[in-house]
Amino acid sequence: MASVLDLIGETPLIEVTQFDRGPCRLFLKLESANPSGSIKDRPARAMVAAAEADGRLGPAGTIVEATAGNTGLGLALVAGRKGYRIVLVVPDKMAREKILHCKAMGAEVILTRSDVGRGHPDYYQDLAETIAARTHGAFFINQFANPANPQAHQDTTGPEIFRQMQGRVDAVVLGVGSGGTLTGIGRFMAKNSPATRMILADPSGSVLAPFVETGQVPKAGSWAVEGIGEDFIPPNADLNLVHKAYAIPDPESFATARDLLRREGVLAGSSTGTLLAAALRYCREQDKPQRVVTLVCDSGAKYLSKVFNPVYAAQEGWDYERQGRVRDVVFARFSEGEEVLVHPNDTLRTTFLRMRAGDVSQVPVVDGDRIVGLVDESDMLGAALEGSERAFDLPVKEVMVTRLETISADAPIRELVPLFRRDLVAIVMDGGRFLGIATRLDLINYFRIAKKR
Ligand SMILES: Cc1ncc(COP(=O)(O)O)c(C=O)c1O
Repeated sequence: MASVLDLIGETPLIEVTQFDRGPCRLFLKLESANPSGSIKDRPARAMVAAAEADGRLGPAGTIVEATAGNTGLGLALVAGRKGYRIVLVVPDKMAREKILHCKAMGAEVILTRSDVGRGHPDYYQDLAETIAARTHGAFFINQFANPANPQAHQDTTGPEIFRQMQGRVDAVVLGVGSGGTLTGIGRFMAKNSPATRMILADPSGSVLAPFVETGQVPKAGSWAVEGIGEDFIPPNADLNLVHKAYAIPDPESFATARDLLRREGVLAGSSTGTLLAAALRYCREQDKPQRVVTLVCDSGAKYLSKVFNPVYAAQEGWDYERQGRVRDVVFARFSEGEEVLVHPNDTLRTTFLRMRAGDVSQVPVVDGDRIVGLVDESDMLGAALEGSERAFDLPVKEVMVTRLETISADAPIRELVPLFRRDLVAIVMDGGRFLGIATRLDLINYFRIAKKR
């Protein structure tokens, strides 16, 4: 009888047909089909097996790793099936969803600071190593330097690609997180298909593509794509294998992932957007037909609130020119259906559920396309404290504030400040129509993106 661990690998390969591929054919290997949803199940299984084989991990041992990403999930899957304890050290900026996912898989999660770098005792990698050293029977996985990581891809991912492509692969387009995928597939191809080119897809801001192109490691920037791109060259990344590198800006990666879903029906994560964008650029640059493969590294289901959420793109400042006007901070727009709102006759129960689902502390009350009130946490709490048993059945129009202070979308942005000083939320009107609301957090975010460039 097969266990879930036997379902790792042998992932399907499909052809991309709805994008301009120049003279080339382009194929996608769906690593999202692995049981924990990503390519990392392969190295997770292999790194645990290697540690068992050489005695570094014994029965009832503890697995320690520094990640809240896909490697953590893959390791939690393997640890759970094999009866090991697993401790994941996670920087505190990690998305809550990822931490909940790791815990739900049975991992113990230790949060640490994300504002310190390599060499600091609280840096997540250093802390994981210390915890492993202090814990009896513990093994520090260390995917960045563990040779079983690239070996997993040399033994499985590389041969599968070669077989599924009937031995004819001109180029493989890959990203580098730890380097396991690149180094493993690259080594397999060097032995079995030496003409195959390894192409690096890297997020702009990462040091890897510039290193391939210039031999220098520049100062790292920041990027929103997850799982690939680095601020150092990982020991497991053999960049000598790389023939050509592309640096892909975040907006292009995100847009390509969205296009992949619309055009081909494949729900993939942000890094797949980077890989596909680079693969498409490579294909279009060719003057002779080539057979090119890239990967769907994980599922887009984990990134619905980022890659597939227009408000996120607006909050990153990708969608429009900023002009120093109040409209620049209205990220969720009523006219685009993005604003969280209620109708005057909706109950306080409905209002509460919308506020919680939208993660907001106030909502506009809208009748047709007119804003008629605003309700916030203190209005809700007041009603709950004073009201009868049936307080949550009251329509929101009985609780909302109706004396509204509005501001024009075209007003200079600094005019928001006096409103915020008076603890008000700005109700932004665009030529008499309700555009959306602006909060302090929106203004703070505006300054964050303005200062990023
Ligand atoms: C989400 C994600 N994680 C990890 C990787 C690759 O990681 P590594 O270099 O650690 O093999 C990719 C690869 O493209 C990825 O998209």
